Amino acid sequence: MTLSQDKLWYKLATFYQVNVRAFFDSNCDGHGDLAGVTQKLDYFSNLGVDCLWLMPLYPSPLKDDGYDISDFYNIQEVFGTVEDLRILINEAHARGIRIIMDLVMNHTSDQHPWFQIGRADKNSPYYDYYVWSDTTERYQDARIIFLDTLDSNWSWDDVAQQYYWHRFYASQPDLNYDNPAVRQEMQDIMKFWLDLGIDGFRADAVPYLFEREGTNCENLPETHQFLRSLRSFIDHNYPHAILLAEANQWPKDVLAYFHEGDEFHMGFHFPLMPRIFMSLKQEDRSSLVWIMDQTPPIPDDCQWCTFLRNHDELTLEMVTPEERQWMWEQYAPDPRMRLNLGIRRRLAPLLDNDPQKIRLAFALLFALPGSPIIYNGDEIGMGDNIWLFDRNGVRTPMQWDTSLNAGFSTADPQDLYAPVISEAPYSPAFVNVKDELEDPQSLLLFMRRLVEIRKGKPIFSYGQLDWLRQVNPAIAAFTRSYGNEMIVVLNNLSATSQKIDVPLKQANGQAYDLWAQQNWPVPFDGNLRLSLEPHQFLWLKFQT
Ligand code: GLC
Repeated sequence: MTLSQDKLWYKLATFYQVNVRAFFDSNCDGHGDLAGVTQKLDYFSNLGVDCLWLMPLYPSPLKDDGYDISDFYNIQEVFGTVEDLRILINEAHARGIRIIMDLVMNHTSDQHPWFQIGRADKNSPYYDYYVWSDTTERYQDARIIFLDTLDSNWSWDDVAQQYYWHRFYASQPDLNYDNPAVRQEMQDIMKFWLDLGIDGFRADAVPYLFEREGTNCENLPETHQFLRSLRSFIDHNYPHAILLAEANQWPKDVLAYFHEGDEFHMGFHFPLMPRIFMSLKQEDRSSLVWIMDQTPPIPDDCQWCTFLRNHDELTLEMVTPEERQWMWEQYAPDPRMRLNLGIRRRLAPLLDNDPQKIRLAFALLFALPGSPIIYNGDEIGMGDNIWLFDRNGVRTPMQWDTSLNAGFSTADPQDLYAPVISEAPYSPAFVNVKDELEDPQSLLLFMRRLVEIRKGKPIFSYGQLDWLRQVNPAIAAFTRSYGNEMIVVLNNLSATSQKIDVPLKQANGQAYDLWAQQNWPVPFDGNLRLSLEPHQFLWLKFQT
């Protein structure tokens, strides 16, 4: 396999999020590492994914699992070396798989030499790399993100004898983007990794780069302008590379991160995610339709990145307070399951470990607009551990088989960075890659088919979305259309069977069932008339 030469490869891709620490330990120290990911490349090829997103690899004191960087030009020791990353990239490319990595632009670790030198010497060039103040009165309109831990975005620094600004933990001081030297540093850092062969960046927490009095300090024009300068640098020098925005915002605000197709190539679609869970629980598509109606068209060369879960809490920032309360009641009955404005659980437990519901959720995600991303472990239905601190409960070791440490590592279990999930029905005896590869009914083999069916079909990437609004609301029913093809996508959100009887004027001829891979048995007479089993989904292809 070689890499696709399509400049818009990301519009067609299936992405996969790799938590390197949790994936595979190649040197028995209890931590996953880059060589471990390289050893598992066949796993990704078999799954059929096109691009991996590697979570932060940089040296870090790990106060925020690596999102607190102390050196942008190196790899955390337990993960290996820069050379190991080069090898991984080359080996992945040889299999037709691309790799993007996290880039945390908004802040550094307080252990970064820039902060250490800057705080100690106001005359050093690094003092002005951060945002300092004599009072905590500035930028009062900026919200607090880590609500459970922080009560201010300012912390006092004893060394500098001033307050410094941080949107996340106090150990993550924000960089001062008004300083041109900081802006240059970020471009140099990108250049370093792009020269190594990386295919782009998942740009962390981008809304917060600049601060301005009297604003909420999010999505500011200055921030966009700087991001566009980075994009232009990439376009001129690394035209194959992409930028994916982590902007937890409403679609109309994320639109600004695409700008005119000259800022980000991709942006996560945050508010869609909780509504997939809402619609499943309510057995009603309304919230899905609503959010997609709120989703504006984006420039041709841009794409949404859609997801069910990731390494963070299932964020409920983009829902109303009433919806949030309802989601907590429904999906996080135990207070330990809640964190900040979200829910710290994995996909399978959220969906009651119900195989058909999990398949439906993935199938829905893959049929809606956007390039989907799978969070590692969710493709085998891994569970979580709500007793672990912060978001660590959804970051436990990948379960490869039933051997020691679930086949993740041969280290002493006490030396693992986190314990393997040990309780039924999510322990390795129930959930592991090896068994699922041998079981035709497994979630993993379902995921492989899902990726395969979608692959190479531009209709899923470029196709227009139209809801079949006459269909009964328990069914998320829509069409995707592209050229003279149309796929009717029907998702029974409910636990009872549902009937459909609607005219479908635009369709012609025989329908083809993409899952059964055969013609639909009933000749098409201009009406879509059928019945769906509980949580069943159907993808029917028509000519138009
Ligand atoms: C992003 C990451 C999250 C991290 C935060 C601060 O939201 O996904 O894990 O804590 O940025 O860097």
